[in-house]
Amino acid sequence: MASLLALFFIQIFIFTVTSFDVGANFEDSFFEINIDRNNPEKLYKEFEDFIVKYKRNYKDEIEKKFRFQQFVATHNRVGKMNKAAKKAGHDTKYGINKFSDLSKKEIHGMYSKFGPPKNNTNVPKFNLKNLRVKRQMEGLPKTFDLRNKKVGGHYIIGPIKTQDSCACCWGFAATAVAEAALTVHLKKAMNLSEQEVCDCAPKHGPGCNGGDPVDGLEYIKEMGLTGGKEYPFNVNRSTQLGRCESEKYDRELNPLELDYYAIDPFNAEYQMTHHLYLLNLPISVAFRTGASLSSYLSGILELADCDDEKGGHWHSGAIVGYGTTKNSAGRTVDYWIFRNSWWTDWGDDGYARIVRGEDWCSIESHGYGARIPE
Ligand SMILES: *[C@@H]1O[C@H](CO)[C@@H](O)[C@H](O)[C@H]1NC(C)=O
Ligand SMILES: *[C@@H]1O[C@H](CO)[C@@H](O)[C@H](O)[C@H]1NC(C)=O
Ligand SMILES: *[C@@H]1O[C@H](CO)[C@@H](O)[C@H](O)[C@H]1NC(C)=O
Repeated sequence: MASLLALFFIQIFIFTVTSFDVGANFEDSFFEINIDRNNPEKLYKEFEDFIVKYKRNYKDEIEKKFRFQQFVATHNRVGKMNKAAKKAGHDTKYGINKFSDLSKKEIHGMYSKFGPPKNNTNVPKFNLKNLRVKRQMEGLPKTFDLRNKKVGGHYIIGPIKTQDSCACCWGFAATAVAEAALTVHLKKAMNLSEQEVCDCAPKHGPGCNGGDPVDGLEYIKEMGLTGGKEYPFNVNRSTQLGRCESEKYDRELNPLELDYYAIDPFNAEYQMTHHLYLLNLPISVAFRTGASLSSYLSGILELADCDDEKGGHWHSGAIVGYGTTKNSAGRTVDYWIFRNSWWTDWGDDGYARIVRGEDWCSIESHGYGARIPE
């Protein structure tokens, strides 16, 4: 017992030493990555703070070293990106967040793992003329944020959710769009089940392997959807096919109730802004991603680094608003308000503003809207 206790204290002692006397305890290879060799303690202190803040519990020193390497790489990349943004007149801020000790490969595990969304020629096109708008719009407001809009006293857009490390972003995007449609239809705050979509909608691979929001919408139209409380999200599900439990739960959204349609990529800005403003409903989008999204903190994302990644990684989410602003560099920039499914500790409380009208990383090329006809 005594020797065990002694060992315990020695271990604590070693750990304390490695924590504070970095230069002496990490061999040279540790610093091969480009860090400030004169002040390695500063960066290591930041890493230690990161470990505490994000409650990391690495299994051994080998993993800790690997995580520190990723952290240093992110740190350097983010520094360069901030400098480049300033030079380009962007007001985007990049920084350290919960993804900063992950490798690029690991981060892409949280995105979709496969290539371009399919061309859905069989999905009906969004047609503004069918809306029978009461009066012709003179023009749209310069800024419109669905997050502030209520129906029957309830917010149309619910709280931010999280897909965790399951690449079911497509299921979250489809559910966000269906949930808002049901909320507006019933004039009641609704919470629908992403898990059911992730478990039941995929035809080819398990939900956590990525997919296309339109497949989620097709499923919701055909099968309806149950509530989020009844069939809650669990990051460990949807890693295999055949886990669907839809028959266990009553439908909140009935089958054949949801009507979904594609946004015309050649008229996307016009259609999406009108869709938001006239219907008070969001749009699901899919786009290619690079490092700018995972390390985004605030401002308007303008860096289209989506082609930097080999193979093309796709992510999806929902557009819940748009606006125009004069940024800190004095440039007038049009933007979308993008709702992500990476929880509130990513980006701007879970949201990002992304440059509008430029088809940033194809964000305006794969839009889908959905509504429940009156
Ligand atoms: C989808 O459509 C675009 C534009 O029409 C075209 O460039 C692309 O090759 C098509 N992709 C597939 C997989 O058919
Ligand atoms: C919605 O359902 C999810 C389960 O998927 C749950 O975690 C969340 O707390 C629910 N939100 C609300 C506002 O009830
Ligand atoms: C998922 O699995 C991990 C590893 O087995 C476990 O630690 C975690 O608690 C599980 N999460 C949930 C929500 O079941």
